Amino acid sequence: MSRPPDPPALAGWRADTPGCERLNHLNNAGAALMPLPVRQSVAEYLALESEIGGYEAAEASDEALRDAYAALARLLGAEPRNLAMQQNSTVAFAQAFAAFDLGPGDQILTSRADYASNQIMYLALARRRGVEIVRAPDASEGGIDPQAVRELMARRRPAILALTWVPTNSGLVQPAETVGEICRDAGVPYILDACQAVGQMPVDVRRLHCDYLAGASRKFLRGPRGVGFLYVSDRALDAGAYPLTVDMHGATWSDPDDFALAPDARRFESWEIAFALVLGTGAAAEYALAVDIEVAHQRSWTLARYARERLAAIDGVRVLDRGPVLCAIATAELGGRPAEAVKLALRARGINTSSPARDDAVIDMDDKGAVSALRVSPHYYNTADEIDAAVTALAEVMEAIEPKDRS
Ligand SMILES: Cc1ncc(COP(=O)(O)O)c(C=O)c1O
Repeated sequence: MSRPPDPPALAGWRADTPGCERLNHLNNAGAALMPLPVRQSVAEYLALESEIGGYEAAEASDEALRDAYAALARLLGAEPRNLAMQQNSTVAFAQAFAAFDLGPGDQILTSRADYASNQIMYLALARRRGVEIVRAPDASEGGIDPQAVRELMARRRPAILALTWVPTNSGLVQPAETVGEICRDAGVPYILDACQAVGQMPVDVRRLHCDYLAGASRKFLRGPRGVGFLYVSDRALDAGAYPLTVDMHGATWSDPDDFALAPDARRFESWEIAFALVLGTGAAAEYALAVDIEVAHQRSWTLARYARERLAAIDGVRVLDRGPVLCAIATAELGGRPAEAVKLALRARGINTSSPARDDAVIDMDDKGAVSALRVSPHYYNTADEIDAAVTALAEVMEAIEPKDRS
């Protein structure tokens, strides 16, 4: 492919991202660089807390907090009543699971590429509650096979379908909307991990037909660390769903032996949350909407495609991403060199990448015969120059590092 040109908006995006000046940040799948408005909203709120008191600051910021939910809702095609702020994406996902009383013989239908923490959660439910895990097979071109999902749905009647839209360790984009249609047709609850999707591609819960969707602020959304969110559908709310650990924010203790649920998704929240980070998430959602998510989508995916092409041209590098649709995450095996060591050597040169290992995605990494991988995840504010610089540095760094990984 030809070298992606710099768009006219690039200078503005980079001016809003001071870290760009001294850093080649290609770890947006880890945590993207926050734009200035996000940093400001968090800092200003913390200043307010220290000046007038934490509880008083929250009350004084009621409208701003409501605006933050509204901005995030707009980004997801949801309504503010459907959003619950959480500590991170894993907790959000777990809260969705905590709305179900799974027991012996209940089946979770999922994929071979679901996120490690989610797989561990399914395994813990299997170990403690006798739940059965059914992993749908992949299609020959990679990614979950929708036809197999349809057949398993009819044959096994799972209690839940859980899917990770974009896995952490590869550029694969699972067919989340198609799977959502299958769940809708079968009447099976659908829990979607959209942690890596939000901010790098359009996300519309109405098209996904999901009952729950979990995400984090710090990744492609460019929000702060330590905060995530859960979308809870009206279908789930109307059915009276709530997590096992519902607290006095999600419900009111109305009588000694009774409680009344909050009418909206707040019943999935905790009483104590980091309001500064909620506001930071709102600012990140506003920023993403102003950039235009379709612009972010096209540019980040194009830069990743360019990165894949350039990585593949390095002697000894094997690009690992497989699937009919690939996103802003490019991964490569480095001829047996431990990706962690390579990542650190690149970081010493001012280039941020990351290094998923086998235990981040056991099934997928084993399928690919990779013990570790280098993950390059550009966002729209990165440039083709930065990809070129990273690829040149990688080729040099690889010369100096011994192959050790054995698959
Ligand atoms: C696909 C996916 N799901 C979930 C998570 C977990 O997010 P958090 O660390 O916010 O819980 C990650 C983190 O990398 C991820 O890549």
